[in-house]
Amino acid sequence: MRVDILTVLPELLKSPFEHSIMKRAQDKGLLEINVHHLRKWAVNEYGQVDDYQYGGGAGMVMMCEPLAKAIEELSGQRKYDEIIYLTPDGETLNQKMANTLSLKENILLICGHYKGIDERIRQHFVSKEISIGDYVLSGGELAAAVLVDTIGRLLPGVLNDETSALFDSFQDNLLAPPVYTRPEDFRGWKVPDILLSGDHKKIEEWRHEQSLQRTKERRPGISG
Ligand code: ADE
Repeated sequence: MRVDILTVLPELLKSPFEHSIMKRAQDKGLLEINVHHLRKWAVNEYGQVDDYQYGGGAGMVMMCEPLAKAIEELSGQRKYDEIIYLTPDGETLNQKMANTLSLKENILLICGHYKGIDERIRQHFVSKEISIGDYVLSGGELAAAVLVDTIGRLLPGVLNDETSALFDSFQDNLLAPPVYTRPEDFRGWKVPDILLSGDHKKIEEWRHEQSLQRTKERRPGISG
């Protein structure tokens, strides 16, 4: 999968992809991430990409021209399956959406800043709008990093043990069960006996039960 990201803060998007699973995905050639500085398509020599909003009001708006030019230039090089704008008023990201997006070949992400991007870009170029939650970030970069991480780990071959993503929270609409590692007794806090029993069938039943219970308590809105 190839991901292109349009941003005015490319530096912010360096580190999130240079470690751990995202690094491995790229090293293995399963994920290619290209970060593009929107100022490359600025309207003047001062690097301007934003302007005051029509109708008045505080806050700048990212202009049509740099975005349109950038999207058109990149789209001329490959066909994007989705052009995604990260915005708090988009559809809220969930695991199902991540699963669907992980099947795409090429996606282009647009990171907004200030008051957001000119509505005409959303209408004429953007195919999907995604929010990572009902709160407002300073810009779309961290949201883009979250989205790429969520999708990237689902690409076949990225995780060592491919089955592990299958048992992540949300994959079956259930939260993951609790997990424990050594020692068996830490300050008198014991690992549940069932996990030490060696009875795999019973352990699976216990885990499923715990998942159901957690989901009921913490996400009463989702059905298991
Ligand atoms: N940009 C600012 N806040 C955001 C959010 N919650 N999700 C996606 N993009 C954003």
